[in-house]
Amino acid sequence: MELKDIILEQREDHILLVSINRPKALNALNRAVFDGLEYAFGEYRNAHPELIGIIVSGSGDKAFAAGADIKEFSSLNAEEATALSRRGQLIFQQIEDTDIPVIAAVEGFSLGGGCELAMACHLRIASEKAKFGQPEVNLGLIPGYGGTQRLKRLVGHAKALELLMTADMVGGAEARQLGLANHCVAPGETMNKSIEIIHKIATKGPIAVANCLKTAQIPFGQDGYLEEARLFGASIVSDEAKEGIDAFVSKRKAAFKRS
Ligand code: CAA
Repeated sequence: MELKDIILEQREDHILLVSINRPKALNALNRAVFDGLEYAFGEYRNAHPELIGIIVSGSGDKAFAAGADIKEFSSLNAEEATALSRRGQLIFQQIEDTDIPVIAAVEGFSLGGGCELAMACHLRIASEKAKFGQPEVNLGLIPGYGGTQRLKRLVGHAKALELLMTADMVGGAEARQLGLANHCVAPGETMNKSIEIIHKIATKGPIAVANCLKTAQIPFGQDGYLEEARLFGASIVSDEAKEGIDAFVSKRKAAFKRS
């Protein structure tokens, strides 16, 4: 597939780098970026079982992504805007449903749809100069790509409401404190930290990692405990757990197989 406004690069260590490539527009999420994300997390991921993780970033050092492309908004009617919102929600859910770790390496602005994209990734590594926020109310809008739901999951209901209603931006250190970012690192270091974390996770049982990603996503109050028990039962008799448990008992390092 010919990609526009997004660059995919598979590194030798089988980490896929997904880079939004519209630095002059602060990597705003237009239709071409959505097409690219859909392809990367769908067809490309399915065709590349060797991948150990995916890192999403923005080109340049000024922005991860400064939101949905506001310039595409003026021509939309209510029906089209609803459809755009649903498409964004589904693509971001596809990202969250990925069975290998997906990390957002956030340098600069991560606003509106950009913050929603970062929140759809499993982990977020923020630069000290990162700026997170949901500024849609400044435009007379609300977030449309899952922000009202994912922000409260990460920072709690009250803080999420404050950020949504005030449009305040938070820096990398505060994002880390709030639980919005997993780590806050020096500018330019988000990629290295993301790679380090993916390498660490790649030494663990890949099916166990995928099952953690799957069960942790089930909203509280739904059947998360049941699914956890089911997958715990299934994993105890798996070759992967046999290897992990045998390695522990024999005091050696586990050598897990990847597909
Ligand atoms: N959409 C389209 N273009 C954007 C953009 C966006 N979200 N954000 C920035 N740009 C463009 C600017 O229009 C400008 O283009 P030109 O050079 O052609 O004028 C270029 O990127 C550089 O931006 P600025 O000159 O504004 O840069 P700055 O450093 O002065 O300000 C900023 C940076 C504070 C991030 C400012 O650009 C800004 O406020 N951007 C919009 C942020 C925003 O409101 N995001 C939410 C979008 S709505 C949304 O995302 C809804 C949803 O959930 C679905």
